[in-house]
Amino acid sequence: MERNIKKILSQMTLEEKAAMCSGDSFFSTKGLKRFGIPSISMSDGPHGLRKQDDSADILGLNASTKATCFPPEVTLASSFDRRLIQNVGKALGVECQALGVSILLGPAINIKRSPLCGRNFEYLSEDPYLTAEMASAYIDGVQSEGVGTSLKHFAANNQEDFRLSLDVRVDERTLREIYLSGFEAAVIKSQPWTVMCAYNKVNGHYCSENKYLLSDILRDEWGFDGFVVSDWGAVAHRVKAIDAGLDLEMPPSGRQNTIKIIQAVQEGRLGIASLDKVVDRLLRIIVKAADSKKQNASWDIVKHHSIAKEAAMESMVLLKNDQKILPLKKDCDLALIGAMAKIPRYQGAGSSHVNPSVLDDIYEEIKKKTNNITYADGYERYTDRVDESLIKEAKEAALHADTAIVFAGLTEEYESEGYDRPHMRMPENHIRLIEEVTKVQENTVVVLCNGAPVEMPWIGNVRGLIEAYLGGQAFGGAIADILFGDANPCGKLAETFPARLSHNPSHINFPGEQGHVDYKEGLFIGYRYYDTKQIAPLFPFGYGLTYTSFVYTGMSLDKTRMTDEESLQVSINIKNVGEMAGKEIVQLYVGKRDSNVIRPVKELKGFEKIYLEPGEEKTVTFSLGKRSFAYYDTTIHDWFVESGVYRVMAASSAEDIRLEESVYIESTERITHTYTRYSTLGELMDDPDQKRIYEEIIGYLRGEGALLSNLNDNPKMAEGMLRGMALCSVYGFSNTAFDEETLQDILRRLNKND
Ligand code: BGC
Repeated sequence: MERNIKKILSQMTLEEKAAMCSGDSFFSTKGLKRFGIPSISMSDGPHGLRKQDDSADILGLNASTKATCFPPEVTLASSFDRRLIQNVGKALGVECQALGVSILLGPAINIKRSPLCGRNFEYLSEDPYLTAEMASAYIDGVQSEGVGTSLKHFAANNQEDFRLSLDVRVDERTLREIYLSGFEAAVIKSQPWTVMCAYNKVNGHYCSENKYLLSDILRDEWGFDGFVVSDWGAVAHRVKAIDAGLDLEMPPSGRQNTIKIIQAVQEGRLGIASLDKVVDRLLRIIVKAADSKKQNASWDIVKHHSIAKEAAMESMVLLKNDQKILPLKKDCDLALIGAMAKIPRYQGAGSSHVNPSVLDDIYEEIKKKTNNITYADGYERYTDRVDESLIKEAKEAALHADTAIVFAGLTEEYESEGYDRPHMRMPENHIRLIEEVTKVQENTVVVLCNGAPVEMPWIGNVRGLIEAYLGGQAFGGAIADILFGDANPCGKLAETFPARLSHNPSHINFPGEQGHVDYKEGLFIGYRYYDTKQIAPLFPFGYGLTYTSFVYTGMSLDKTRMTDEESLQVSINIKNVGEMAGKEIVQLYVGKRDSNVIRPVKELKGFEKIYLEPGEEKTVTFSLGKRSFAYYDTTIHDWFVESGVYRVMAASSAEDIRLEESVYIESTERITHTYTRYSTLGELMDDPDQKRIYEEIIGYLRGEGALLSNLNDNPKMAEGMLRGMALCSVYGFSNTAFDEETLQDILRRLNKND
């Protein structure tokens, strides 16, 4: 239907405009009957639809319409597979159309700063590049079906404790490089229809009224042209929020905020132009959504279940496989242990909770592979309490089998939206069970069902370990195929598993104090920290085994020198040297050794997942552009590539670099340096434009009795001393000819660059 939004806006009353800024029901926007503008409906998200009709609530406590429960984002991210996540997104889009949902409230892409964040199961990774790639694929998939997404939670919502009031204090470079760059890339590449602002404050301002985030960065810099919706209940000051760029308040606040908006306009505290912009943005997306609705849409439950199964299989991570205990032989004698094998843990809790269309029975799926199963609960499913009789029964079963498979992990109450974990341990009864079973059965394999890393004091006692994360509704079929080799595991960790919680860089500053949290670890999140500090994690970022193995050879760069305006093509040959077809996730990291700014040792800038038959070899290629080498410079407030040599590393995990080459990059930009009397001679040494003035100053330090006259025999010491010397200190070390007037003259020339 053709609608002239400009005309509608000009005919709307102030009351209508103000009312439009808030929802109609818990999950829908207001319609404007007299202009033919319908109400559109939204739904959580992200890994399935939580379409609630009559009894809508934020925390997923009330049941929703049945829909496919795909594996949550923590699981999907470990697939490192853009095509797969796009497919899942597409399937979600199809279900949205079938259930009349116009906007799916996802993907959730906050960075995993701490393993304790209660909602990590719903987020993708600790790495912004991987986050951005997966988020884009998800958005492309959903939106290809004519359904909008809501990229959330913008920004720096990296914990659940105090999320409604917390002030996140983070420096500009860290904010840009770590916490915003996933949003940036996803917005620019995939243009989500909406963005959801977070509950928390960033540097003193609620995200819902943060003009710097919502207008200066999101819209003016990145070109976002959809609408911004508040997280549910995130609006503190409605009028300020409109000025800052927040369009839709959800859930509706009744008429109270409508009245406030009307009064603010009438009293001249809010310009009508600001309100018009908000209504214009809302109308455009609502009209787009209404026009994209498909009639009589439906989905194929079986087909979507098999997409969910593929997603789970592609994402599980094989972390340990001593003496090739896996895959299991069909018809082996198996002790299947752990109540989670009977009542699976396959998704997280809170607003993302999905009512699955069907749910695999793990026990039955495993029974399809071997009939010789003895099952034992081992622990009570919903408590932490150790039950000695259940453990005894489990040991008995394990003792008489060839192999024991123990399903363990975190129970629902451990991780949820709304609060964080106080520690990184598994429930006491799960730990004890594993310890006791491994005493009687050396062939023990643990399958972990959890949404975030756990400590594993028992790791040395088990032969096999699969991090299955939360597998979605088809978890049962997927894990059975993986355990028995009908599928080859091919996921890798999208986050580091620290050996213990105290090794995590945010440990001391999590969850904060007195209403704020300081991101003091700066850029050094996840592998950026462990790598740079040389702290061995339990399992590194990007790590995962398969039932086959791969060899990397022939890394080549298409140039050895280039400018920051060119791009670099990198290629590597990967060969499957094992006996089973499988997939390898090849990772490309970039680092710079002698940087003028503090940088992590290396950062992920590319990845590809490739399928290889036994003996097959393929070449995988990457293209690295300016952003792959840049850091965010806070003097120019922009991305900048320093001139110099960059390391390019092909790796199988963050700790397993297989091949390395280097490239020299010449910067085409110069950062104009402002010199003050406290600038150092070191700054001058590193500034190629100031060689002449540097030499001039050195002249004052060379004369009789001056600093350098005593250091003639020791140039290294001389350089060290000069580097740290402030310009205003030269006087004290010179032969006195260098006075205040000389300094002022030099500063004038330095800052004019002549
Ligand atoms: C969550 C959002 C969710 C919204 C609506 C909030 O509590 O933080 O992610 O989309 O509720 O259910």
